Amino acid sequence: MAESLSGGRRQTTGPLAKRKSGRRKSLRRDVTAGRAALSPRINGLVLTSLPFFHSLEVQWPSGRRYIYCRKCRQSFKRSIVPHLLGKHSREWNRALDDWLTLRKSGLTYKSITKAYTSQKGEYIFSWNVVKRHVKTRIERTGQVIMVKSRTGPYLPGPLKEIRPRTSVWSFPKRGDWSVHASDYEGNWSPFVPHEIIRSFSKKGQLVLDPFVGGGTTLVECVLLERRGLGLDVNPVAVKLARQKVAKARQLASKGSKKALLPTVVTVQNGDARYLTSVPTGSVDLVCTHPPYGQAIRYTNSLEDLSRLAPDEFVISIGHVAKELYRVLKPGKFCAILMGDYRHRGVLYPNGLRVLEELIDGAGFELQDVIVKLQHQDSSTGFYPGRTDSLRYRIAHEYLFVVRKPGGETSERL
Ligand SMILES: C[S@@+](CC[C@H](N)C(=O)[O-])C[C@H]1O[C@@H](n2cnc3c(N)ncnc32)[C@H](O)[C@@H]1O
Ligand SMILES: [Zn+2]
Repeated sequence: MAESLSGGRRQTTGPLAKRKSGRRKSLRRDVTAGRAALSPRINGLVLTSLPFFHSLEVQWPSGRRYIYCRKCRQSFKRSIVPHLLGKHSREWNRALDDWLTLRKSGLTYKSITKAYTSQKGEYIFSWNVVKRHVKTRIERTGQVIMVKSRTGPYLPGPLKEIRPRTSVWSFPKRGDWSVHASDYEGNWSPFVPHEIIRSFSKKGQLVLDPFVGGGTTLVECVLLERRGLGLDVNPVAVKLARQKVAKARQLASKGSKKALLPTVVTVQNGDARYLTSVPTGSVDLVCTHPPYGQAIRYTNSLEDLSRLAPDEFVISIGHVAKELYRVLKPGKFCAILMGDYRHRGVLYPNGLRVLEELIDGAGFELQDVIVKLQHQDSSTGFYPGRTDSLRYRIAHEYLFVVRKPGGETSERL
């Protein structure tokens, strides 16, 4: 991803500059005296909000970290955000606008945080703060952020070589072809729906993703020439998924040598527990990735499964499983990715409980249990850092492939 901050020389003092001087080079920006206020640029974008952050600095009186606002001559021990919201709301709102623009241009939340340091290069807030506030703004305004794709417009040839052959799947790079990018929190690696759709459906068949999120599955439906239907309770997700499908189609029509089958791919606002718009026995494949209980909160909607306590979550997944069973054609498959999570030291084994709902609750037959290694999660062991003395980090998810009995005996395609 292009993350270079354009412009002239950068002041490279402060702890960050010392520790990460190499990375700093690629995050250079116009902060040389005088010019800083005129043209702070990142990724070629002029950011009017950036100079204000140079009036903030980190101080360590008696070894404790404080943020000092030079304008108001006040120090803050924990977070400076309440102060910014109260006293510098104009600058804060301008920063939020700029962060949204930067996200759209492809910068990660971490890179944005690194760009909005003090003039000495000290962190003012954590990337989680940036992420949380950008997400809230997106929800409030209904604005959609589609991050620019990084590689070519169209795939799939090279993926042939990395098709998984065993029940352990590992994709160290999440995949960024077409419009795939990490622009929807918790979205899955496109390798997963790519492989599932190729293995368990044929061209022109109907694939359902009732937890569609940012539309990864549907983009694969476009590229693999399947019909697709996606649902989500989050209106922002619905908008984003629609935009991605349209853009993927446009890119594919430009980038591919042969025209793709123009399959119908639609996205609706809806609840996966009540698939009222989907006729019984009409779907060829379910390929989906629900929330993992409360691991990530998506919306405040009452229908959102990510708000539910562990037992309620499992009951709701039970309803979903029965609906999926109803809408699938006999003999067809449902692939569902599920992860466990820990909260305050307690492990919630969503995977096993969801499998029980699929088999014992809804009546599916078990075809495959795939363990998918998690590479992109900062809580997994693929990242260096703190190790828990008593607990192992969760570094895998389960991909269950189940089949609705009846119909013809299906062969893996
Ligand atoms: C893990 S995300 C899906 C991400 C998706 N696979 C992607 O790649 O973008 C789970 C999604 O389920 C949605 N969701 C939560 N409860 C739902 C419900 N009852 N019906 C439909 N969607 C729901 C959330 O809004 C969220 O977008
Ligand atoms: Zn102030």
